[in-house]
Amino acid sequence: MTDLANSPASTLRLGVNIDHVATVRNARGGAYPDPARAALMAQKAGADGITAHLREDRRHITDTDIEALMDALSVPLNFEMAATDEMQKIALRHVPHAVCLVPEKREERTTEGGLEVAREENRLAHFIAPLQDAGCRVSIFIAADRRQIEAAARIGAPVVELHTGAYCDAFAEGRTQDSAAEFQRLQDMAVFANSLGLEVHAGHGLTYETVKPIAALPQIRELNIGHFLIGEAIFVGLEASMRQMRQLMDEARSEKTERGAA
Ligand code: PXP
Repeated sequence: MTDLANSPASTLRLGVNIDHVATVRNARGGAYPDPARAALMAQKAGADGITAHLREDRRHITDTDIEALMDALSVPLNFEMAATDEMQKIALRHVPHAVCLVPEKREERTTEGGLEVAREENRLAHFIAPLQDAGCRVSIFIAADRRQIEAAARIGAPVVELHTGAYCDAFAEGRTQDSAAEFQRLQDMAVFANSLGLEVHAGHGLTYETVKPIAALPQIRELNIGHFLIGEAIFVGLEASMRQMRQLMDEARSEKTERGAA
């Protein structure tokens, strides 16, 4: 088994999203299970970072959780948030390692689409400037779409996270052609984003079954995975679910390298 804490820097980073630990806690109110405890466990098991989304309605992660994570973690916190003044103030107060801008709708169950950067270029350029000045690495969560990638590059974001949800949904529903087409789009857009000098991340809906093709894309530097890992943790524990995911990511990377070398 890989010693995750000592993975070489060249390997693909795994960011563990702990929002759903808070979802379970909030189903009853009270204090457990504690997302910060899960984050520390993930960190110990070799997560390269922890991701948490403070939603406007605080339906899972709360302001207190963010404070606890900032205090407890030694790996980077990737703070997901909507591009609102309230969230910008919170991010500037904590100055997490990374801020990932996501679209947010109250009625959605999870982040459904990518951010419409192209439509809001001017506002978003001004929005990210103070975050970058404060030292946060800003990433923008977008669909694998050329127009959005170009807009993200134009506003000066250093990182884009490509939304893998459409690929994962098609796979889960057995729509083989759609999942192949969505995968092709992700591959093409990872190459395109990388060619513009953007660091490329990916995430949403990834499972043991869908992670390998994405992890094999050499342009992708980080995957953010939550719901599946936390769900699996119910059966096998968080450390084991993470280790299995990490192993699949590493296998995908090394198979790719072997194919490239052949
Ligand atoms: N990346 C972003 C930007 C997200 O909003 C989410 C979901 O909160 C994820 C990754 C993780 O998605 P999942 O929980 O489906 O693995």
